[in-house]
Amino acid sequence: MNKDTIFQHTDIKDNFSFNEQVAEVFDDMVHRSVPLYETVIDAIARILDQHLSRQLTVYDLGCSTGTTLLELSRRLQHRQLRLIGIDNAGSMLEKARKKAAMFCKTNCLSFQEEDITSCPLTDADAILCNYTLQFVRPPVRRALVDRLYQALPSGGLLIVCEKILASGVFHRPFIDIYHDFKREQGYSELEIAAKREALENVLVPFTVDENISLLREAGFSQVEIFCKWFNFASFVALKS
Ligand SMILES: C[S@@+](CC[C@H](N)C(=O)[O-])C[C@H]1O[C@@H](n2cnc3c(N)ncnc32)[C@H](O)[C@@H]1O
Repeated sequence: MNKDTIFQHTDIKDNFSFNEQVAEVFDDMVHRSVPLYETVIDAIARILDQHLSRQLTVYDLGCSTGTTLLELSRRLQHRQLRLIGIDNAGSMLEKARKKAAMFCKTNCLSFQEEDITSCPLTDADAILCNYTLQFVRPPVRRALVDRLYQALPSGGLLIVCEKILASGVFHRPFIDIYHDFKREQGYSELEIAAKREALENVLVPFTVDENISLLREAGFSQVEIFCKWFNFASFVALKS
């Protein structure tokens, strides 16, 4: 895994984007930047295993280098799986395809370079959207979640994991706790500050309540949080 040193260079002034340079170090970046990353994937595997039937078609929207789907293919080996990763960053998908081939998973895993706001979602039983909705511009987010609801059959699941905005007195302390986490992962003050600036207006988090409203208003009858760490939350939503 290549180490993420992107924000060690103080001359970076551009907004953050999922370019080739980021794809190169993404696996290290996501493990050191998203608390409970592996735990959440394990929880998703458990939810899918409990809730859905033997044959399973799962879409991962904003799949990046395919880690989640690869892990699902490993953890749900007893299932007949069709796993489809969608992303609009070609360099991420290049890595994802290489990993799928390396772990001999190309029989059940495929990747498509498309925009998640318009891609087809044929026969989806479950849709994952892990740390991706936060990068979709807020005015477009509602229409996307509505579309995901329409794409699912009754009994289908939407799983959304997001960085969230804590409100009131907890807003600042939760951000500080997150920065402590990043320091513990080996990021310097400079890297933390530079990345924060680059993500400004690119990653736009909603509060827990805003995310739940988005899901409920799209039509999902049951919405639960299945994992929460300060300013990160994972939601499961059922179309009944
Ligand atoms: C933070 S990463 C997601 C991480 C990944 N889901 C995981 O758990 O490892 C966000 C991804 O969403 C993709 N993305 C953002 N907006 C997109 C869009 N409109 N269409 C397709 N992919 C998009 C980016 O290219 C990036 O790979």
